[in-house]
Amino acid sequence: MEYDEILHTLQTYGQEHLLKYYDSLPQKDQECLLKQIADIDWSILKLLQSGKAAEEKGVLEPLGALELPEIRKKESAYREIGKKAIQEGKIGAVLLAGGQGTRLGFNGPKGTVNIGLSKELYIFECLIHNLMDVVRETGSWVHLFIMTSQKNNEETVSFFQKHNYFGYDAEHIHFFIQEMAPAVGYDGKLLLEEKGKLALSPNGNGGWFSSMEKAGLLPLLHEKGIEWLNIFAVDNVLQRIADPCFIGATIDSGCASGAKVVRKASPMERVGVLCLEDKRPSIVEYYEMTEDMIHLKDENGNLLYNFGVILNYLFRVDKLEEILHTTLPLHMAEKKIPCLDANGELYRPETPNGYKFETLVLDMVRLMDSCLPFEVERSHEFAPIKNKEGVDSIETARELLKQNGVVL
Ligand code: UTP
Repeated sequence: MEYDEILHTLQTYGQEHLLKYYDSLPQKDQECLLKQIADIDWSILKLLQSGKAAEEKGVLEPLGALELPEIRKKESAYREIGKKAIQEGKIGAVLLAGGQGTRLGFNGPKGTVNIGLSKELYIFECLIHNLMDVVRETGSWVHLFIMTSQKNNEETVSFFQKHNYFGYDAEHIHFFIQEMAPAVGYDGKLLLEEKGKLALSPNGNGGWFSSMEKAGLLPLLHEKGIEWLNIFAVDNVLQRIADPCFIGATIDSGCASGAKVVRKASPMERVGVLCLEDKRPSIVEYYEMTEDMIHLKDENGNLLYNFGVILNYLFRVDKLEEILHTTLPLHMAEKKIPCLDANGELYRPETPNGYKFETLVLDMVRLMDSCLPFEVERSHEFAPIKNKEGVDSIETARELLKQNGVVL
């Protein structure tokens, strides 16, 4: 797009300030800026005006889970099915590590945080150790795909190289980079990070499969015969990855996806709950539930909306390919966004100063025809590191790691 066309678009949306420094920029930067502006998905402004997620929720109903007692009864059969699938090369794992982890406030990729006490122990290292348990159990390497963003890719890749992939086989590790989205200040104006650069941030964890496609990784999935992908977050240092029991149970169920869930600690716990929406599996956020739903119980006194997701999903690859071009709803999140102030100086806010726009992997579950909620013991599989202190912090994760026999 040419300058005039871009200017016209910006005027339509009241965003001409993005060209404030245009004339002072070298030609190369001018071109980059115009390209960034041409790539903007303007639906973010519509979302900003309406102030809510693009889509309303449908009719919600509870969805039970495959619960621990049942899993224990059939554990060895599930495990065998899962191990066989891994040994046949049908399982891949996808680490979502493109987020900025702003709540933790660490200046670098979250996975590079050292949580050790008497020795170095990095978050990435914990995850690799967990996956190595499965490699040992099955005698097979699992292809691990790591999603990064333009903001942290170089640092992440060189960190893995420097640490020799923590003993993982480098041939089985594949990095790919996710897309970016612009950020907006509270006044509805798009933010600049440099005079010739928009304040762009990773566009959420929902685009991981289309980013894999853009990175040219789908032929590799086919070549290797990978039929299932286990998606997981960077920050849960206790989670089991490519867990044979979970894989076996999901395959056995005939469902197109599976989700690890934990029993809610209390009805009011702020977790996304797996349920049915218009008869399809779906995740409802705690703030989208009514009081009645939150406290609804069955005849035995058990909460009906009782299973929270922990961002560990299994998706069947053929189904992912079917939904590849389906648009996911956009979500807005209030964040601290480094940007230029009125004088054109970079400033790093201490408190949120605007919104980022994201699509979320949890919305993919709804696009699957079916999902097996698979209960896991929270104290053994859920130690997320989200915040600097208090709940879900390094401190709480260390405690849980120790309880599980990990030497820190
Ligand atoms: P979070 O919801 O914790 O988001 O991500 P975040 O952006 O990293 O952290 P805060 O909210 O700023 O503190 C859950 C998982 O999704 C990944 C994260 O790396 C984490 O594993 N993620 C998130 C991405 O891969 N890309 C994104 O754009 C956002």
